Amino acid sequence: MSDPFGQSAKQNRYDIEFAVPMVHRLRFTKDCFGDDFSVVTDLFERSGNSCARAQVWIDEGLCNWDRQLSQKITARLSSPAAGVDLVAPVEQLPGGEAVKNDPAIVHHLLESFNRDNLDRRSYVLVVGGGAILDTVGYAAAIAHRGIRLIRVPTTTLAQADSGVGVKNAVNWFKKKNWKGTFAAPWAVVNDERLLEGLSDRDFRCGFSEAVKVSLLKSPEFFQFLTGAAEAIAARGQPQTAIAIRESVLLHLWHITRGGDPFELQQARPLDFGHWSAHKLEAITQYRLRHGEAVAIGVAVDTVYSHLQLGLPRSVADATLKTLLGLQLPIWDSALNESVIFDGLEEFRQHLGGELTITLLKQVGQPVDVHSIDRGAMREAMSYVAENAASSVV
Ligand SMILES: NC(=O)c1ccc[n+]([C@@H]2O[C@H](COP(=O)([O-])OP(=O)(O)OC[C@H]3O[C@@H](n4cnc5c(N)ncnc54)[C@H](O)[C@@H]3O)[C@@H](O)[C@H]2O)c1
Ligand SMILES: [Zn+2]
Repeated sequence: MSDPFGQSAKQNRYDIEFAVPMVHRLRFTKDCFGDDFSVVTDLFERSGNSCARAQVWIDEGLCNWDRQLSQKITARLSSPAAGVDLVAPVEQLPGGEAVKNDPAIVHHLLESFNRDNLDRRSYVLVVGGGAILDTVGYAAAIAHRGIRLIRVPTTTLAQADSGVGVKNAVNWFKKKNWKGTFAAPWAVVNDERLLEGLSDRDFRCGFSEAVKVSLLKSPEFFQFLTGAAEAIAARGQPQTAIAIRESVLLHLWHITRGGDPFELQQARPLDFGHWSAHKLEAITQYRLRHGEAVAIGVAVDTVYSHLQLGLPRSVADATLKTLLGLQLPIWDSALNESVIFDGLEEFRQHLGGELTITLLKQVGQPVDVHSIDRGAMREAMSYVAENAASSVV
C-alpha cells in the first residue's frame, strides 16, 4: 500500500549511503609571502561582487624569526590587487602546545570572528606550526559550522603530515585533542622559505612522519629516505623538498582516495608508530617533540613487525639506520614495558571497541593486528635500545 506520494507505508527503515564531493587544494611555493604571493591570493574566491573577507593569524615563533612578516602580509593583502578585504590587523598567537591548552585563545578567536562578521564565505588564513593550525582550525570549524580555512604550515612536521589532514583539536580536561572536529581545510600552502626559521631540532622532527608514511605506502620512497637521511638532517636541498613533497602527497592520496578520511573505521593506518608515541610525549611532559616520539614508536613497531609478522630484518635495520641518519632519537630513557602497555590500553580506549594496531608485513603492506605479544615486544624494545646505545658510541 502506498501513500499519495508513492511511498510504501511498509518501509520503516532507510539506510542510505551518501558521499559529499569535496576539493582538497594543496599548493607548493618557494616564497608565498614574496614572489609567489599570487598563489595565495588565487585561493580567495570573491563573494558575489565583494572581495573575500579575511583574517590572518600567525605563529609568534615564526615572527621572532622574521620580524617583518606580519607587516609584509598586511601590506600585500591590503593592496587592491590582492582582491581581499583584510578585516582586522594580522594577529600573533603563541606557538607550541601552550596554545592548545588555553581556552581563552579559542574564545578570543571566536570573538574576533564575530566582531568582524566573518561568515561561511569568509576566510581565516593561519600561518604556523601544527599547534596553531589545530587551534585556529578548530575555532574556524565551529564558527557558523565552518569558515573557510587556509593553512600555511611552517614546520616540517605540519608540511609533511598534519597540514593536509582533516582534523583539528584543542586540549580539554587536561587531555590531548579531546575537543575537536573533522573539517577539510579550504586550502593548504606548503612554503619552502618559511621553514628556514626552524631550529635544526624542529626541522628534523617532520621526517619521522615521512619515514612512517613511506613504510606504509611506498618502497621507493623508503629507499629514497634511506639514502637521503644525512643530507636531510643537514637541511640539504633538493632532498628536503623532495621528502616533504612525497610525504604530504602520500598523506593527501590517503585522505582523498583511501576511503576513510574521517576515521570512521576501526583501523587508523596513518597512526603507525603512534600508539606508544602519544604515551611517550605525555610521560615526558612534552620534553620529546611529537616527531621525536614518533621516530621511537616507528623504530619499536618496525622491529616488532620483523619479530612477529615476517617483515624482513633488513627493513627493520634500514629503518633504524634511516631514523638515526636523520638525527632523530630511536630510544628514550622514559620508555619501558609498563609505559608501552599502558599506552596500548589508552590507545584502545581512545579508539573505542577492539584494539587495532597497524603494523607491517612488508614495506607498503600494512596489516592490522588486535593484540601485542609481551615477550616479542620486550625483545623489540631491547633490540632498539641496543642499537640506540651503539649509535652513540
Ligand atoms: N591535526 C592533526 O592531524 C595533527 C597531526 C599531527 C600533529 N598535530 C599537532 O601538531 C602539534 C605539533 O605541531 P608542530 O610539530 O608543527 O610544532 P608546533 O606547532 O608545536 O611548533 C613548534 C615550535 O616551532 C615554532 N615555529 C613554528 N614554525 C616556525 C618557523 N617556521 N620558524 C621558527 N619557529 C617556528 C612554534 O612557535 C613553536 O614554538 C601538536 O599539538 C600535535 O598534536 C595535529
Ligand atoms: Zn604524527
